[in-house]
Amino acid sequence: FELPVLAPSILAADFTKLGKNIEDATKGGVTWIHCDIMDGHFVPNISYGPGIVKAAKKAAPEAFFDVHLMIENPDDYVENFVEAGADLISVHYETCPHLHRSIQNIKKYGLMTGVVVNPATSLHNIEPVLADVDLVLIMSVNPGFGGQSFIESSYEKLSELAKMREEKELGFLIQVDGGVNLKNIKKVSEAGADIMVAGSSVFSAEDITARVEELIEKLR
Ligand code: DX5
Ligand code: ZN
Repeated sequence: FELPVLAPSILAADFTKLGKNIEDATKGGVTWIHCDIMDGHFVPNISYGPGIVKAAKKAAPEAFFDVHLMIENPDDYVENFVEAGADLISVHYETCPHLHRSIQNIKKYGLMTGVVVNPATSLHNIEPVLADVDLVLIMSVNPGFGGQSFIESSYEKLSELAKMREEKELGFLIQVDGGVNLKNIKKVSEAGADIMVAGSSVFSAEDITARVEELIEKLR
């Protein structure tokens, strides 16, 4: 990937024209799509399932699809999202009592793997699996909804993770998710994020293509 990457979250898209929204985003230079899967148990919201991921993939067959599982018992649904066309599946530390095994379970399908930590979860909790994952996702909002404000302490967490990666000589990607917008995206990138998820700041725009170009411009 040409880092840093803007990864629009389609949770914030207009579902009456999801395909058009995605096409407009790819026209602006998007190559990575973030899919937020919510079950109403781990998080207080229900979003969508593998069927929508499959449909979204039709609108951007060349794009990289990362599936962010905010669900209980994620191991039980990995195969569904593999079949839907996911390229990477990330699971929450907070939903995986056997996190090392959950990561191996995703790997066995040949997909890239990610581990996610909520704002109140310390990075030290995932230290034992940093060498096993391709990506670490730092939640900069409490998961469940788009349109929330970026939690300021996330900057320090991003820098801490970047330092850990360097000290351990590892190569995982650092992704941040929640409240990223035109005003803070540059600072978020400079704090250490490689992949910036953005939902409402992309899909709330009148002209999605122009907004994507604007956000990507900020990352240059
Ligand atoms: C929140 C999701 C985020 C969210 C981002 O639980 O994981 O991906 O959709 O949306 P914005 O960018 O609007 O905060
Ligand atoms: Zn997400």
